[in-house]
Amino acid sequence: QINIELDEHTREVAAQKLKIGVYFATWWALNVIFNIYNKKVLNAFPFPWLTSTLSLATGSLMMLVSWATKIAKAPETDLNFWKALFPVAVAHTIGHVAATVSMSKVAVSFTHIIKSGEPAFSVLVSRFLLGEAFPVPVYLSLVPIIGGCALAAVTELNFNLTGFMGAMISNLAFVFRNIFSKRGMKGKSVGGMNYYACLSMMSLLILTPFAIAVEGPQMWAVGWDKAIAQIGPNFIWWVVAQSVFYHLYNQVSYMSLNEISPLTFSIGNTMKRISVIVASIIVFQTPLQPINALGAAIAIFGTFLYSQTKK
Ligand code: 3PG
Repeated sequence: QINIELDEHTREVAAQKLKIGVYFATWWALNVIFNIYNKKVLNAFPFPWLTSTLSLATGSLMMLVSWATKIAKAPETDLNFWKALFPVAVAHTIGHVAATVSMSKVAVSFTHIIKSGEPAFSVLVSRFLLGEAFPVPVYLSLVPIIGGCALAAVTELNFNLTGFMGAMISNLAFVFRNIFSKRGMKGKSVGGMNYYACLSMMSLLILTPFAIAVEGPQMWAVGWDKAIAQIGPNFIWWVVAQSVFYHLYNQVSYMSLNEISPLTFSIGNTMKRISVIVASIIVFQTPLQPINALGAAIAIFGTFLYSQTKK
C-alpha cells in the first residue's frame, strides 16, 4: 500500500516538474522570438510608444476573440477586481513602454543585462518602501548584481542614457507590478491567462492617450511609409509577429506564475534573459568587448547567488 502511494506521489511530482519545464521552455522560446522581431521593427520604425500599444491591442483582441468563440472561458469579474487591477496595470504600462523605449535606443542585449538587475530593485523597494528586512547574504548578493550591471553599462560600446534609464525604470515598475499582482491574484478565481488578458486591456486604455500625445498619428504615418519603402510589405508581418509573441510569452509567464513560487519565477526570468542576450548578440551581430561580457556574467551570477540566499 505504502509503495503504491509512494509511486503515485513520485509520478505526480515528475508530472508537475515536466509541466513547469514545458512552461519555462515555451516562455523562453516565445520571448526570444518577441525580442528579435521587436528589435527588427524598432530598427526600421523607431516609434516605441506605438509598438508597445500595438502589442497590448493585439493581445486584448486575441483574448476577446477567444472569449467570444468560447476557446477560453471569460472570467467573472466585479468592480473590486478592476479596482485592484488598476495599480498593476499602471506599473505594467510604465515597465512595458520603458523597456521598449530602451530597446529602441540600445542593443537588446544591453537592455536585458540591465534588466537582469531586477532582483536588486526588488530587495531595495521591499527594504526601503515596505520596511521588509532580509538576512545579510541577500544584501551581499546585491554587490555582484549592481557591480556587474554597472561594469556592463560603463563598458557598453553604444551606451545611450535614454536606453539605460528606460531599462532602469522598467526594473522599478516591474517590481511594483509583481508586488501588486501577487496581492491582486491572491484568493481570486481569475487564473493566470485571464488575469493577464484583463491586465492587457486595462494597460491598453492607459497607454493609448500617452502614445498619441508623445508620438501621434502624423509621425507614425511618415515613419510607416519609410519602413514599408525600406523593408517591403513583409514589414507588416514583423509588426504582427512582435505583437502576437509579446502577448503569448506574457500569457505563458502569468500561467506559470500560477503554478510556482515568485522565487522560482524570478530564477526562470533571469535564465530567460541569458537566452535572449545570447540569441540577440548572434542575430544582430552586436559588437561586444570582453570586459562588457564579464560585467553581464557577474550580474547574472549575482542573480543566481541571490536566488540561493533567498532559498
Ligand atoms: C516589455 O516590452 O514589456 C519588455 O520587453 C518586458 O521585458 P520582460 O518581460 O523581459 O521583463
